[in-house]
Amino acid sequence: MASILLNPTFSTTTAATTTSKLNHPSFSTTPISCSKGILKAPIPSTLFFKPPSHSLPTKVLSHRLPVRSALRPEYIPNRIDDPNYVRIFDTTLRDGEQSPGATMTSKEKLDIARQLAKLGVDIIEAGFPAASKDDLDAVKIIAKEVGNAVDENGHVPVICGLARCNRNDISTAWEAVKYAKRPRIHTFIATSEIHMKYKLKKSEKEVIEIAREMVKYARSLGCDDVEFSPEDAGRSEREFLYKILGEVIKAGATTLNIPDTVGYTVPNEFGQLIADIKSNTPGIENVIISTHCQNDLGLSTANTIAGACAGARQVEVTINGIGERAGNASLEEVVMALKCRGEKALGGLYTGINIRHIVKTSKMVAEYSGLQVQPHKAIVGANAFAHESGIHQDGMLKHKETYEIISPEDIGLFRSNESGIVLGKLSGRHALKSRLLELGYEIEGMELDDIFWRFKEVAEKKKHWYRMKYFSQKFFGSLVICR
Ligand code: KIV
Repeated sequence: MASILLNPTFSTTTAATTTSKLNHPSFSTTPISCSKGILKAPIPSTLFFKPPSHSLPTKVLSHRLPVRSALRPEYIPNRIDDPNYVRIFDTTLRDGEQSPGATMTSKEKLDIARQLAKLGVDIIEAGFPAASKDDLDAVKIIAKEVGNAVDENGHVPVICGLARCNRNDISTAWEAVKYAKRPRIHTFIATSEIHMKYKLKKSEKEVIEIAREMVKYARSLGCDDVEFSPEDAGRSEREFLYKILGEVIKAGATTLNIPDTVGYTVPNEFGQLIADIKSNTPGIENVIISTHCQNDLGLSTANTIAGACAGARQVEVTINGIGERAGNASLEEVVMALKCRGEKALGGLYTGINIRHIVKTSKMVAEYSGLQVQPHKAIVGANAFAHESGIHQDGMLKHKETYEIISPEDIGLFRSNESGIVLGKLSGRHALKSRLLELGYEIEGMELDDIFWRFKEVAEKKKHWYRMKYFSQKFFGSLVICR
């Protein structure tokens, strides 16, 4: 049992992953009426992050993550045989690279793509081939290499290229991705009134016609995996969305991605959008619904989770949350939310990500993109598993689950001191004593008191822990002399 729990990602225990989502007690069945006469979908109560009453935790939290099946469902473009499986679509190399100043070389992109494959993402959006010759070449090489490297579990990621709804973009995307074992074309056109009027200068009718023809064109090239995105869906008119989405399904789209392009929606609203699309779009049962949430209001992770709870089975994310403006939903946050809370609070949703590669992937993307991760960033920030206040340090030294919901080793983070203790002005005697012990000094009583107050004096003057570390090294140096 212990060894299973210590290796949660690849256990062969299946747990309750096959319960149908629709039968799950966390889903309310009361339809919500709508002013325009179209029935709004029943909205899952999980959108409001209320755990179902039957599963309220009996003990406070489990430090160990839930055990999941290693088997990911077979890849079929428009269908997933396990209703709880959520595909991870990584767009670090496309939307992530659109972060100001984040340009990466082809070699760096190839390295990242290899790492994303190890991480176990289902789909890699490798770039926007029509945007530049460099992008075309990078996507092509990723398709040829990473798109054909089947791993020991039989997994190989889909390689996807972005294209606007025009023939040149679509054929260039196909030219790049067609070498992969599982190639995908992702085509998009804006559907919000503001984008159609000012940017495209086209009517609804024209936009529908273009979308339908371009999805058909992508299929005609031999691509049987075509994703369509109505750009700015978060601000698009509902009935128009149902109509255009219904048309592209008929034209052969296999995934419908719903972008909140400007990060405008809030979680219950975005969840409702997905639920409504699921209820009102003709033919929706034959395709996968996807989310693509930007982070302008800092809600991208919450919106993505709300979308998944409402029926999306693909989520578009980036490593470290990089992307246009304030970025995208971050892969590590979405994946760890599903990993930690999927079973108890999110209706059993799960992914195929090998979480042990999270930290390494994050570091690689930070280094290659030049976008450093803020220290307090969830999951991968330098402070995410560091504890400075005395009360927390004392708790950590007694039992790690008091202040940590994830074991850092599970995501590939190995701390130099096991309890993540950072000595600072708020630290207590317990932490100092334990650090001294790590350094080889067993100090008690008055001597510890004396050191403690001298330590506090230094700590109060030094704001940053790394400077603190430097000074405390000096301080411990002098301690050695004292002894
Ligand atoms: O933000 C957006 O709308 C996009 C689409 C191309 C999916 O990046």
